[in-house]
Amino acid sequence: MTADDSGESRSDPGRDGSDASTQSHLSATSTAADPSSSSDSSADSIEDEDSGADESAVSAEYTPSDDTSGDRGAPSVDASDDPSQSIEEMLLEFDDQDGLIRDRSLLDPNYVVAEDRIVGRDEQLQQVTKMLRVALGDDRPPNLFLYGPSGTGKSLITKAVCKNLSRICATRDIRFGTIEVNCQDLDTLGVAVYELARQAADEAGVDVQVPKHGVATKEKWDELYRIVNENFDSVVFVLDELDMLVGRRDKQDPAFSRLLYQLSRSGANDELTAYISVVAISNDTKMMESVGSRALSSFTPEDVRFDDYDAQQLQAILRRRRDAFREGVVDADVIPLASAFAAQTHGDARKAIDLMRVAGELAEREGDDRVREEHVREAQDKVEQNRVLEVVRGISTQKKLCLYATAAVAAQTDDGSARSTTGYRVYQFLTDAIDADQYHQETYVNKMKELTTYSLVDFERRSHGPSSGMFLEFQFGERPETILETLREDSRIDMVEPAEVESVVQTRLRNDG
Ligand SMILES: Nc1ncnc2c1ncn2[C@@H]1O[C@H](COP(=O)(O)OP(=O)(O)OP(=O)(O)O)[C@@H](O)[C@H]1O
Ligand SMILES: [Mg+2]
Repeated sequence: MTADDSGESRSDPGRDGSDASTQSHLSATSTAADPSSSSDSSADSIEDEDSGADESAVSAEYTPSDDTSGDRGAPSVDASDDPSQSIEEMLLEFDDQDGLIRDRSLLDPNYVVAEDRIVGRDEQLQQVTKMLRVALGDDRPPNLFLYGPSGTGKSLITKAVCKNLSRICATRDIRFGTIEVNCQDLDTLGVAVYELARQAADEAGVDVQVPKHGVATKEKWDELYRIVNENFDSVVFVLDELDMLVGRRDKQDPAFSRLLYQLSRSGANDELTAYISVVAISNDTKMMESVGSRALSSFTPEDVRFDDYDAQQLQAILRRRRDAFREGVVDADVIPLASAFAAQTHGDARKAIDLMRVAGELAEREGDDRVREEHVREAQDKVEQNRVLEVVRGISTQKKLCLYATAAVAAQTDDGSARSTTGYRVYQFLTDAIDADQYHQETYVNKMKELTTYSLVDFERRSHGPSSGMFLEFQFGERPETILETLREDSRIDMVEPAEVESVVQTRLRNDG
Protein backbone atom coordinates (compact mmCIF):
# COMPACT_ATOMS: atom_id res chain seq x y z
CA MET A 1 0.00 0.00 0.00
CA THR A 2 1.39 3.38 0.90
CA ALA A 3 5.06 3.82 1.55
CA ASP A 4 5.90 2.76 5.03
CA ASP A 5 6.65 5.72 7.16
CA SER A 6 6.90 3.86 10.41
CA GLY A 7 10.51 4.91 10.59
CA GLU A 8 9.24 8.39 11.23
CA SER A 9 7.72 7.54 14.58
CA ARG A 10 9.65 9.54 17.07
CA SER A 11 8.97 11.77 19.98
CA ASP A 12 9.61 15.27 18.94
CA PRO A 13 10.51 17.89 21.48
CA GLY A 14 9.62 20.58 18.94
CA ARG A 15 6.02 19.58 18.96
CA ASP A 16 4.97 21.40 22.08
CA GLY A 17 6.76 24.50 21.03
CA SER A 18 4.74 24.77 17.87
CA ASP A 19 1.80 26.39 19.61
CA ALA A 20 3.83 29.24 20.93
CA SER A 21 5.32 29.93 17.55
CA THR A 22 1.88 29.72 15.99
CA GLN A 23 0.73 32.46 18.32
CA SER A 24 3.65 34.69 17.65
CA HIS A 25 2.97 34.60 13.93
CA LEU A 26 -0.65 35.45 14.08
CA SER A 27 -0.12 39.18 14.07
CA ALA A 28 2.07 38.86 11.00
CA THR A 29 -0.62 36.78 9.41
CA SER A 30 -3.31 39.42 9.41
CA THR A 31 -1.28 41.77 7.26
CA ALA A 32 0.39 39.06 5.27
CA ALA A 33 -2.95 37.51 4.46
CA ASP A 34 -3.99 40.50 2.43
CA PRO A 35 -2.78 39.66 -1.06
CA SER A 36 -2.48 43.34 -1.88
CA SER A 37 -0.19 44.16 1.01
CA SER A 38 3.40 43.83 0.09
CA SER A 39 5.32 43.11 3.21
CA ASP A 40 9.02 43.44 3.56
CA SER A 41 9.13 41.46 6.76
CA SER A 42 11.16 38.80 5.01
CA ALA A 43 14.15 41.05 5.55
CA ASP A 44 14.40 39.97 9.13
CA SER A 45 13.28 36.45 8.50
CA ILE A 46 14.75 33.90 10.79
CA GLU A 47 13.83 30.30 11.21
CA ASP A 48 11.21 29.57 13.78
CA GLU A 49 11.87 28.80 17.39
CA ASP A 50 11.14 25.12 17.21
CA SER A 51 13.22 24.53 14.15
CA GLY A 52 16.29 23.34 15.98
CA ALA A 53 14.54 20.44 17.58
CA ASP A 54 12.56 19.70 14.47
CA GLU A 55 15.44 19.71 12.11
CA SER A 56 17.79 17.69 14.28
CA ALA A 57 15.16 15.02 14.73
CA VAL A 58 14.80 14.95 11.01
CA SER A 59 18.43 14.78 10.11
CA ALA A 60 18.70 11.80 12.42
CA GLU A 61 15.83 10.21 10.60
CA TYR A 62 16.71 11.32 7.12
CA THR A 63 18.83 8.84 5.28
CA PRO A 64 18.84 8.91 1.49
CA SER A 65 17.06 5.83 0.24
CA ASP A 66 19.61 3.15 -0.34
CA ASP A 67 17.38 0.67 -2.08
CA THR A 68 17.89 2.61 -5.28
CA SER A 69 21.46 1.45 -5.38
CA GLY A 70 20.33 -1.97 -6.52
CA ASP A 71 23.27 -4.28 -7.12
CA ARG A 72 25.69 -1.57 -8.00
CA GLY A 73 27.86 -1.81 -4.94
CA ALA A 74 27.85 -0.71 -1.36
CA PRO A 75 25.37 2.14 -0.79
CA SER A 76 27.31 3.62 2.09
CA VAL A 77 30.24 4.65 -0.10
CA ASP A 78 30.19 8.31 -1.09
CA ALA A 79 29.22 7.98 -4.72
CA SER A 80 29.80 11.52 -5.94
CA ASP A 81 32.80 10.61 -8.07
CA ASP A 82 31.76 7.09 -8.74
CA PRO A 83 31.73 6.53 -12.53
CA SER A 84 29.43 3.56 -12.07
CA GLN A 85 26.63 5.70 -10.63
CA SER A 86 23.22 5.00 -12.13
CA ILE A 87 21.19 7.78 -13.71
CA GLU A 88 18.73 7.51 -10.88
CA GLU A 89 21.49 7.89 -8.31
CA MET A 90 22.81 10.95 -10.05
CA LEU A 91 19.36 12.47 -10.32
CA LEU A 92 18.66 11.81 -6.66
CA GLU A 93 22.00 13.21 -5.72
CA PHE A 94 21.37 16.45 -7.59
CA ASP A 95 17.96 16.57 -6.05
CA ASP A 96 19.53 16.16 -2.68
CA GLN A 97 22.24 18.77 -3.22
CA ASP A 98 20.50 21.58 -4.98
CA GLY A 99 16.80 21.40 -4.30
CA LEU A 100 15.07 23.31 -1.55
CA ILE A 101 12.64 20.46 -1.06
CA ARG A 102 14.19 17.37 0.41
CA ASP A 103 11.21 15.17 1.14
CA ARG A 104 8.50 15.58 -1.45
CA SER A 105 6.26 12.94 0.10
CA LEU A 106 5.50 15.31 2.97
CA LEU A 107 4.03 17.72 0.44
CA ASP A 108 2.06 15.05 -1.42
CA PRO A 109 -1.62 15.23 -0.45
CA ASN A 110 -2.10 11.48 -0.90
CA TYR A 111 0.79 10.40 1.29
CA VAL A 112 -0.21 9.09 4.70
CA VAL A 113 2.03 10.96 7.10
CA ALA A 114 3.21 9.52 10.40
CA GLU A 115 0.93 9.94 13.35
CA ASP A 116 2.96 12.64 15.04
CA ARG A 117 2.44 14.88 12.05
CA ILE A 118 -1.33 14.83 12.44
CA VAL A 119 -2.47 17.88 14.39
CA GLY A 120 -5.80 19.28 15.45
CA ARG A 121 -7.91 16.21 14.82
CA ASP A 122 -7.62 14.51 18.21
CA GLU A 123 -11.34 14.18 18.66
CA GLN A 124 -11.97 12.58 15.28
CA LEU A 125 -8.90 10.39 15.60
CA GLN A 126 -10.15 9.17 18.95
CA GLN A 127 -13.69 8.56 17.74
CA VAL A 128 -12.62 6.60 14.69
CA THR A 129 -10.03 4.63 16.62
CA LYS A 130 -12.45 3.75 19.41
CA MET A 131 -15.05 2.52 16.99
CA LEU A 132 -12.78 0.57 14.70
CA ARG A 133 -10.72 -1.00 17.45
CA VAL A 134 -13.57 -3.47 17.92
CA ALA A 135 -11.94 -5.21 14.96
CA LEU A 136 -9.08 -6.18 17.27
CA GLY A 137 -11.43 -8.20 19.42
CA ASP A 138 -13.71 -10.79 18.07
CA ASP A 139 -16.58 -8.67 16.95
CA ARG A 140 -17.87 -6.49 14.15
CA PRO A 141 -16.99 -2.78 14.38
CA PRO A 142 -19.80 -0.29 13.74
CA ASN A 143 -20.30 1.42 10.40
CA LEU A 144 -19.10 5.00 10.17
CA PHE A 145 -20.07 8.08 8.22
CA LEU A 146 -17.29 10.68 8.03
CA TYR A 147 -18.35 13.99 6.59
CA GLY A 148 -16.98 17.49 6.19
CA PRO A 149 -15.50 19.90 3.64
CA SER A 150 -12.56 18.93 1.47
CA GLY A 151 -9.08 18.86 2.94
CA THR A 152 -10.21 18.45 6.54
CA GLY A 153 -8.45 15.14 7.16
CA LYS A 154 -11.18 12.57 6.54
CA SER A 155 -9.10 10.32 4.28
CA LEU A 156 -5.95 10.84 6.32
CA ILE A 157 -7.53 9.89 9.65
CA THR A 158 -9.20 6.81 8.16
CA LYS A 159 -6.00 5.62 6.54
CA ALA A 160 -3.91 6.25 9.64
CA VAL A 161 -6.28 4.29 11.88
CA CYS A 162 -6.61 1.39 9.42
CA LYS A 163 -2.87 1.21 9.00
CA ASN A 164 -2.41 0.84 12.75
CA LEU A 165 -5.20 -1.70 13.02
CA SER A 166 -3.60 -3.70 10.31
CA ARG A 167 -0.24 -3.65 12.05
CA ILE A 168 -1.68 -4.76 15.40
CA CYS A 169 -3.89 -7.43 13.82
CA ALA A 170 -0.85 -8.90 12.11
CA THR A 171 0.76 -9.49 15.50
CA ARG A 172 -2.39 -11.15 16.81
CA ASP A 173 -3.00 -13.52 13.95
CA ILE A 174 -6.15 -11.74 12.93
CA ARG A 175 -6.45 -11.61 9.15
CA PHE A 176 -7.48 -7.98 8.83
CA GLY A 177 -7.92 -6.10 5.56
CA THR A 178 -8.68 -2.54 4.54
CA ILE A 179 -10.51 -2.48 1.25
CA GLU A 180 -10.55 1.04 0.03
CA VAL A 181 -12.00 2.62 -3.08
CA ASN A 182 -12.27 6.22 -4.13
CA CYS A 183 -15.64 6.56 -5.83
CA GLN A 184 -14.72 9.69 -7.73
CA ASP A 185 -13.82 7.81 -10.90
CA LEU A 186 -16.37 5.02 -10.64
CA ASP A 187 -19.48 5.62 -12.64
CA THR A 188 -21.71 2.63 -12.02
CA LEU A 189 -22.44 0.18 -9.24
CA GLY A 190 -20.96 -2.67 -11.30
CA VAL A 191 -17.65 -0.84 -11.70
CA ALA A 192 -17.61 -0.03 -7.99
CA VAL A 193 -18.15 -3.66 -6.97
CA TYR A 194 -15.47 -4.79 -9.39
CA GLU A 195 -13.10 -2.22 -7.91
CA LEU A 196 -13.84 -3.48 -4.40
CA ALA A 197 -13.10 -7.05 -5.54
CA ARG A 198 -9.89 -5.88 -7.16
CA GLN A 199 -8.77 -4.03 -4.05
CA ALA A 200 -9.68 -7.01 -1.87
CA ALA A 201 -7.63 -9.29 -4.13
CA ASP A 202 -4.77 -6.84 -4.01
CA GLU A 203 -4.85 -6.67 -0.22
CA ALA A 204 -4.96 -10.47 -0.01
CA GLY A 205 -2.33 -10.99 -2.69
CA VAL A 206 -4.59 -13.06 -4.94
CA ASP A 207 -6.11 -12.61 -8.41
CA VAL A 208 -9.59 -11.39 -9.29
CA GLN A 209 -11.40 -14.01 -11.27
CA VAL A 210 -14.14 -11.97 -12.92
CA PRO A 211 -13.69 -9.61 -15.84
CA LYS A 212 -14.29 -5.91 -15.37
CA HIS A 213 -16.86 -5.72 -18.13
CA GLY A 214 -19.42 -8.00 -19.68
CA VAL A 215 -20.65 -9.86 -16.59
CA ALA A 216 -23.59 -9.19 -14.33
CA THR A 217 -22.96 -7.17 -11.18
CA LYS A 218 -24.15 -10.20 -9.19
CA GLU A 219 -21.10 -12.15 -10.35
CA LYS A 220 -18.83 -9.36 -9.18
CA TRP A 221 -20.50 -9.37 -5.78
CA ASP A 222 -19.99 -13.13 -5.55
CA GLU A 223 -16.32 -12.73 -6.42
CA LEU A 224 -15.93 -10.04 -3.77
CA TYR A 225 -17.56 -12.30 -1.17
CA ARG A 226 -15.34 -15.20 -2.19
CA ILE A 227 -12.12 -13.20 -1.90
CA VAL A 228 -13.10 -11.68 1.44
CA ASN A 229 -14.35 -14.94 2.95
CA GLU A 230 -11.34 -16.92 1.89
CA ASN A 231 -8.74 -14.41 3.02
CA PHE A 232 -9.96 -12.29 5.91
CA ASP A 233 -11.37 -12.52 9.40
CA SER A 234 -12.19 -8.85 9.60
CA VAL A 235 -12.50 -6.19 6.95
CA VAL A 236 -13.05 -2.44 6.89
CA PHE A 237 -14.49 -1.18 3.63
CA VAL A 238 -13.57 2.44 3.04
CA LEU A 239 -15.81 4.13 0.50
CA ASP A 240 -14.14 7.48 -0.06
CA GLU A 241 -15.98 10.33 -1.81
CA LEU A 242 -19.01 8.07 -1.84
CA ASP A 243 -21.42 10.83 -2.89
CA MET A 244 -19.73 10.82 -6.31
CA LEU A 245 -21.03 7.33 -7.05
CA VAL A 246 -24.35 8.36 -8.50
CA GLY A 247 -24.69 5.66 -11.13
CA ARG A 248 -27.25 5.53 -13.87
CA ARG A 249 -30.01 8.09 -13.67
CA ASP A 250 -32.75 5.64 -14.60
CA LYS A 251 -32.41 3.79 -11.30
CA GLN A 252 -34.63 4.74 -8.43
CA ASP A 253 -31.88 4.94 -5.82
CA PRO A 254 -28.43 6.42 -6.44
CA ALA A 255 -25.67 3.81 -6.82
CA PHE A 256 -24.08 4.74 -3.47
CA SER A 257 -27.32 3.91 -1.73
CA ARG A 258 -27.51 0.50 -3.37
CA LEU A 259 -23.85 -0.17 -2.59
CA LEU A 260 -24.35 0.67 1.10
CA TYR A 261 -27.45 -1.47 1.27
CA GLN A 262 -25.87 -4.50 -0.30
CA LEU A 263 -22.59 -4.27 1.59
CA SER A 264 -24.07 -3.81 5.02
CA ARG A 265 -26.75 -6.43 4.39
CA SER A 266 -24.25 -9.02 3.21
CA GLY A 267 -22.43 -8.52 6.50
CA ALA A 268 -25.62 -9.26 8.39
CA ASN A 269 -26.54 -12.44 6.50
CA ASP A 270 -24.29 -15.31 5.53
CA GLU A 271 -22.84 -13.96 2.32
CA LEU A 272 -19.90 -12.44 4.12
CA THR A 273 -18.50 -14.55 6.91
CA ALA A 274 -15.78 -12.06 7.90
CA TYR A 275 -16.67 -9.25 10.29
CA ILE A 276 -17.20 -6.24 8.13
CA SER A 277 -17.52 -2.57 8.81
CA VAL A 278 -18.24 0.13 6.26
CA VAL A 279 -16.68 3.59 6.48
CA ALA A 280 -18.47 5.99 4.16
CA ILE A 281 -16.72 9.32 3.52
CA SER A 282 -18.31 12.35 1.90
CA ASN A 283 -18.04 16.09 1.42
CA ASP A 284 -21.75 16.29 1.23
CA THR A 285 -23.27 16.56 4.68
CA LYS A 286 -26.67 15.87 3.21
CA MET A 287 -25.62 12.66 1.49
CA MET A 288 -27.28 10.48 4.07
CA GLU A 289 -30.59 12.16 3.28
CA SER A 290 -30.50 10.72 -0.20
CA VAL A 291 -29.66 7.25 1.03
CA GLY A 292 -32.89 5.32 0.56
CA SER A 293 -34.78 4.00 3.56
CA ARG A 294 -34.02 0.43 2.55
CA ALA A 295 -30.26 1.08 2.77
CA LEU A 296 -30.65 3.09 5.96
CA SER A 297 -32.31 0.17 7.71
CA SER A 298 -29.16 -1.92 7.32
CA PHE A 299 -26.51 0.80 7.20
CA THR A 300 -26.84 2.70 10.45
CA PRO A 301 -23.57 4.57 10.85
CA GLU A 302 -21.99 6.49 13.67
CA ASP A 303 -21.39 10.03 12.43
CA VAL A 304 -18.00 11.71 12.68
CA ARG A 305 -17.88 15.35 11.72
CA PHE A 306 -14.82 17.15 10.30
CA ASP A 307 -14.84 20.94 10.45
CA ASP A 308 -12.79 23.47 8.51
CA TYR A 309 -9.40 24.30 9.96
CA ASP A 310 -8.68 27.83 11.06
CA ALA A 311 -5.45 29.63 10.11
CA GLN A 312 -3.81 28.64 13.37
CA GLN A 313 -4.49 24.95 12.90
CA LEU A 314 -3.25 25.13 9.32
CA GLN A 315 -0.03 26.72 10.57
CA ALA A 316 0.45 23.91 13.04
CA ILE A 317 -0.10 21.34 10.27
CA LEU A 318 2.45 23.01 8.02
CA ARG A 319 4.99 23.42 10.80
CA ARG A 320 4.89 19.69 11.42
CA ARG A 321 5.99 19.22 7.81
CA ARG A 322 8.52 21.98 7.53
CA ASP A 323 11.28 19.40 7.34
CA ALA A 324 9.97 18.65 3.86
CA PHE A 325 12.36 21.50 3.06
CA ARG A 326 16.07 21.71 3.64
CA GLU A 327 17.14 23.22 6.88
CA GLY A 328 16.71 26.96 7.19
CA VAL A 329 15.48 27.68 3.65
CA VAL A 330 11.90 28.59 4.50
CA ASP A 331 11.36 32.24 5.39
CA ALA A 332 9.50 32.82 8.64
CA ASP A 333 6.48 34.44 7.00
CA VAL A 334 5.92 31.64 4.46
CA ILE A 335 3.92 29.29 6.67
CA PRO A 336 1.67 32.00 8.17
CA LEU A 337 0.92 33.36 4.72
CA ALA A 338 0.17 29.98 3.15
CA SER A 339 -2.10 29.18 6.11
CA ALA A 340 -3.85 32.52 5.84
CA PHE A 341 -4.53 32.00 2.13
CA ALA A 342 -5.87 28.50 2.72
CA ALA A 343 -8.02 29.67 5.62
CA GLN A 344 -9.40 32.50 3.52
CA THR A 345 -11.14 30.14 1.14
CA HIS A 346 -12.34 27.33 3.35
CA GLY A 347 -9.73 26.08 5.82
CA ASP A 348 -8.54 23.32 3.54
CA ALA A 349 -5.30 21.58 4.60
CA ARG A 350 -4.79 20.22 1.10
CA LYS A 351 -4.71 23.74 -0.23
CA ALA A 352 -2.25 24.85 2.46
CA ILE A 353 0.05 21.93 1.61
CA ASP A 354 -0.34 22.54 -2.12
CA LEU A 355 0.66 26.16 -1.58
CA MET A 356 3.81 25.13 0.25
CA ARG A 357 4.75 22.63 -2.45
CA VAL A 358 4.12 25.01 -5.33
CA ALA A 359 5.93 27.85 -3.54
CA GLY A 360 8.92 25.55 -3.03
CA GLU A 361 8.88 24.45 -6.65
CA LEU A 362 8.65 28.02 -7.90
CA ALA A 363 11.59 29.04 -5.73
CA GLU A 364 13.59 26.07 -7.02
CA ARG A 365 12.75 26.85 -10.61
CA GLU A 366 13.79 30.45 -10.17
CA GLY A 367 17.08 29.27 -8.71
CA ASP A 368 16.36 31.03 -5.44
CA ASP A 369 18.10 29.74 -2.35
CA ARG A 370 15.08 30.36 -0.12
CA VAL A 371 11.33 30.01 -0.19
CA ARG A 372 9.95 33.49 0.25
CA GLU A 373 6.66 35.23 0.79
CA GLU A 374 6.40 36.19 -2.88
CA HIS A 375 6.65 32.54 -3.86
CA VAL A 376 3.59 31.85 -1.75
CA ARG A 377 1.73 34.67 -3.46
CA GLU A 378 2.68 33.32 -6.88
CA ALA A 379 1.69 29.85 -5.73
CA GLN A 380 -1.67 31.15 -4.55
CA ASP A 381 -2.38 32.54 -8.02
CA LYS A 382 -1.34 29.30 -9.61
CA VAL A 383 -3.24 27.00 -7.29
CA GLU A 384 -6.36 29.12 -7.62
CA GLN A 385 -6.10 29.16 -11.38
CA ASN A 386 -5.70 25.39 -11.52
CA ARG A 387 -8.75 24.85 -9.42
CA VAL A 388 -10.87 27.23 -11.44
CA LEU A 389 -9.53 25.73 -14.63
CA GLU A 390 -10.48 22.27 -13.50
CA VAL A 391 -14.08 23.31 -12.93
CA VAL A 392 -14.40 25.59 -15.90
CA ARG A 393 -12.94 23.18 -18.41
CA GLY A 394 -15.93 20.87 -18.16
CA ILE A 395 -18.85 23.32 -18.28
CA SER A 396 -21.02 24.49 -21.19
CA THR A 397 -20.64 27.89 -22.85
CA GLN A 398 -23.94 29.00 -21.34
CA LYS A 399 -22.74 28.17 -17.84
CA LYS A 400 -19.50 29.97 -18.56
CA LEU A 401 -21.44 33.07 -19.57
CA CYS A 402 -23.53 32.95 -16.39
CA LEU A 403 -20.40 32.49 -14.31
CA TYR A 404 -18.51 35.25 -16.12
CA ALA A 405 -21.34 37.74 -15.68
CA THR A 406 -21.69 36.95 -12.00
CA ALA A 407 -17.95 37.03 -11.32
CA ALA A 408 -17.70 40.35 -13.19
CA VAL A 409 -20.19 41.82 -10.74
CA ALA A 410 -18.51 40.28 -7.70
CA ALA A 411 -15.17 41.68 -8.83
CA GLN A 412 -16.53 45.18 -8.35
CA THR A 413 -18.53 45.05 -5.17
CA ASP A 414 -16.96 45.86 -1.83
CA ASP A 415 -17.74 42.53 -0.24
CA GLY A 416 -17.13 40.41 -3.35
CA SER A 417 -20.76 39.31 -3.60
CA ALA A 418 -23.04 39.50 -6.63
CA ARG A 419 -26.80 39.74 -6.72
CA SER A 420 -28.58 37.50 -9.18
CA THR A 421 -30.60 40.44 -10.48
CA THR A 422 -27.46 42.41 -11.36
CA GLY A 423 -25.65 39.33 -12.65
CA TYR A 424 -28.52 38.56 -14.99
CA ARG A 425 -28.34 42.03 -16.58
CA VAL A 426 -24.66 41.54 -17.27
CA TYR A 427 -25.40 38.06 -18.62
CA GLN A 428 -27.90 39.67 -21.03
CA PHE A 429 -25.26 42.13 -22.15
CA LEU A 430 -22.76 39.31 -22.74
CA THR A 431 -25.11 37.09 -24.69
CA ASP A 432 -26.11 40.07 -26.86
CA ALA A 433 -22.49 40.98 -27.44
CA ILE A 434 -21.46 37.57 -28.71
CA ASP A 435 -24.83 36.71 -30.23
CA ALA A 436 -25.43 33.65 -28.06
CA ASP A 437 -28.78 32.23 -26.96
CA GLN A 438 -30.25 34.18 -24.10
CA TYR A 439 -32.13 32.39 -21.35
CA HIS A 440 -34.62 33.74 -18.83
CA GLN A 441 -33.47 34.88 -15.45
CA GLU A 442 -34.77 31.70 -13.86
CA THR A 443 -32.53 29.58 -16.07
CA TYR A 444 -29.57 31.84 -15.34
CA VAL A 445 -30.22 31.38 -11.63
CA ASN A 446 -30.56 27.61 -12.02
CA LYS A 447 -27.30 27.37 -13.91
CA MET A 448 -25.56 29.36 -11.21
CA LYS A 449 -27.09 27.14 -8.55
CA GLU A 450 -25.80 24.09 -10.36
CA LEU A 451 -22.32 25.57 -10.25
CA THR A 452 -22.41 25.55 -6.45
CA THR A 453 -21.69 21.80 -6.47
CA TYR A 454 -18.08 22.61 -7.37
CA SER A 455 -17.81 24.82 -4.28
CA LEU A 456 -16.55 27.59 -6.51
CA VAL A 457 -19.58 29.69 -5.74
CA ASP A 458 -22.16 29.72 -3.00
CA PHE A 459 -25.43 31.60 -2.60
CA GLU A 460 -27.86 32.98 -0.07
CA ARG A 461 -31.44 34.01 -0.55
CA ARG A 462 -32.13 37.69 0.18
CA SER A 463 -34.66 40.43 -0.25
CA HIS A 464 -34.52 44.24 -0.35
CA GLY A 465 -37.50 44.53 1.90
CA PRO A 466 -41.11 43.39 2.19
CA SER A 467 -42.32 45.20 -0.91
CA SER A 468 -39.64 44.03 -3.32
CA GLY A 469 -38.81 40.62 -4.69
CA MET A 470 -36.32 38.02 -3.65
CA PHE A 471 -32.90 37.63 -5.16
CA LEU A 472 -29.92 35.39 -4.62
CA GLU A 473 -26.60 36.69 -3.48
CA PHE A 474 -23.62 34.82 -4.85
CA GLN A 475 -20.28 34.60 -3.13
CA PHE A 476 -17.15 33.13 -4.67
CA GLY A 477 -14.75 30.64 -3.13
CA GLU A 478 -11.85 31.97 -5.20
CA ARG A 479 -11.07 35.49 -6.30
CA PRO A 480 -13.55 36.58 -9.00
CA GLU A 481 -10.62 38.02 -11.00
CA THR A 482 -9.12 34.55 -11.31
CA ILE A 483 -12.41 33.20 -12.58
CA LEU A 484 -12.68 36.01 -15.13
CA GLU A 485 -9.13 35.50 -16.33
CA THR A 486 -9.60 31.77 -16.67
CA LEU A 487 -12.89 32.11 -18.51
CA ARG A 488 -11.36 34.54 -20.98
CA GLU A 489 -9.39 31.59 -22.31
CA ASP A 490 -12.63 30.70 -24.05
CA SER A 491 -12.35 32.52 -27.36
CA ARG A 492 -16.03 33.47 -27.46
CA ILE A 493 -15.88 35.14 -24.10
CA ASP A 494 -12.61 36.78 -24.99
CA MET A 495 -14.43 38.55 -27.86
CA VAL A 496 -15.93 40.96 -25.33
CA GLU A 497 -13.64 43.70 -24.04
CA PRO A 498 -13.16 43.39 -20.28
CA ALA A 499 -13.35 47.18 -19.95
CA GLU A 500 -16.72 47.18 -21.65
CA VAL A 501 -18.08 44.54 -19.28
CA GLU A 502 -16.69 46.55 -16.39
CA SER A 503 -18.54 49.67 -17.40
CA VAL A 504 -21.79 47.73 -17.85
CA VAL A 505 -21.31 46.32 -14.36
CA GLN A 506 -20.66 49.80 -12.95
CA THR A 507 -23.83 51.16 -14.50
CA ARG A 508 -25.89 48.21 -13.28
CA LEU A 509 -24.47 48.47 -9.77
CA ARG A 510 -25.39 52.17 -9.67
CA ASN A 511 -28.93 51.50 -10.90
CA ASP A 512 -29.60 48.37 -8.89
CA GLY A 513 -27.78 49.48 -5.76
N1 LIG B 1 -5.00 17.26 10.89
C1 LIG B 1 -4.09 17.14 9.93
N2 LIG B 1 -2.79 17.06 10.22
C2 LIG B 1 -1.86 16.93 9.25
N3 LIG B 1 -2.15 16.88 7.95
C3 LIG B 1 -3.44 16.95 7.58
C4 LIG B 1 -4.47 17.08 8.55
N4 LIG B 1 -5.65 17.13 7.91
C5 LIG B 1 -5.38 17.03 6.61
N5 LIG B 1 -4.05 16.92 6.39
C6 LIG B 1 -3.41 16.80 5.08
O1 LIG B 1 -4.15 17.57 4.17
C7 LIG B 1 -4.35 16.87 2.95
C8 LIG B 1 -5.82 16.64 2.72
O2 LIG B 1 -6.35 15.80 3.74
P1 LIG B 1 -7.36 14.62 3.41
O3 LIG B 1 -7.00 13.98 2.12
O4 LIG B 1 -7.47 13.74 4.59
O5 LIG B 1 -8.68 15.48 3.23
P2 LIG B 1 -10.20 14.98 3.02
O6 LIG B 1 -10.98 15.49 4.19
O7 LIG B 1 -10.21 13.53 2.75
O8 LIG B 1 -10.57 15.84 1.75
P3 LIG B 1 -11.50 15.45 0.48
O9 LIG B 1 -12.90 15.53 0.98
O10 LIG B 1 -11.21 16.51 -0.51
O11 LIG B 1 -11.10 14.09 0.04
C9 LIG B 1 -3.53 15.61 3.07
O12 LIG B 1 -2.27 15.85 2.55
C10 LIG B 1 -3.44 15.39 4.57
O13 LIG B 1 -2.27 14.69 4.86
MG1 LIG C 1 -10.49 12.48 0.96
